[in-house]
Amino acid sequence: MINKTLDALPQRSNYLEVGIFKGATFQNVVSGVKWGVDIEPSFDYSKLPKNTRVFVQPSDTFFSQLAGDKKFDMVYIDAEHTFAQAYRELVHSFNHLEKWGVILLDDTVPQNSIAAIPSEAESKEVALRMHGTCVWPHQGDVWKLIMQVREKHENITVRTIVGPSRPRTFMWANKKFDSKMNLESAEQVSSLTYDESFKFGIPEQFGVRELSDVLEEIRKRSF
Ligand SMILES: C[S@@+](CC[C@H](N)C(=O)[O-])C[C@H]1O[C@@H](n2cnc3c(N)ncnc32)[C@H](O)[C@@H]1O
Repeated sequence: MINKTLDALPQRSNYLEVGIFKGATFQNVVSGVKWGVDIEPSFDYSKLPKNTRVFVQPSDTFFSQLAGDKKFDMVYIDAEHTFAQAYRELVHSFNHLEKWGVILLDDTVPQNSIAAIPSEAESKEVALRMHGTCVWPHQGDVWKLIMQVREKHENITVRTIVGPSRPRTFMWANKKFDSKMNLESAEQVSSLTYDESFKFGIPEQFGVRELSDVLEEIRKRSF
């Protein structure tokens, strides 16, 4: 899916993945240069090809040390499953995105209310107590990011696909930010609950579409 998205962009020179884990996605992305960030990558990243670079550090540190003029064609955000962390990563990513750049976010649609508990440890405890197992999916409250963007960042298009494999959300800027994107107050969004927001399925704010339609939309943008 990432490679298909890169196909739809005017260039695929710089790709960033925030949260690379075993490198399953990272190693299969085709881009001129690939950078990955992870607090604890779970594979031998010393043998990666020369066009790849792995930063073993928290994403906050990575972005705070990143040169202001460094730009990416695409950023895949797939690290901690909390709204606050993913929001910081999103804002930093937009500030380092080419004007045609696209951001893809994983874990934006929780599978159920237990999977939506922000703390993974707490979510597993609840699953054990209620269902006798701690083998449980976890997406946390990354979903609130979509609500926050739709509420506070009008300049951004939000499109969610429900497959293949699982839901993910694309975002891109409709026009260049005047200066840069900033974190806005998340007071309204923090009071939302999963049960209320997903009572009738995926909320309309998520902009659910078919992947082929999203790729077409990405391809047809003008800059
Ligand atoms: C779901 S896995 C990533 C999977 C990978 N993107 C893939 O497609 O195979 C999440 C990863 O995020 C990393 N992570 C969690 N919090 C982070 C943070 N604050 N900064 C950087 N990496 C983080 C974890 O160490 C873990 O390896």
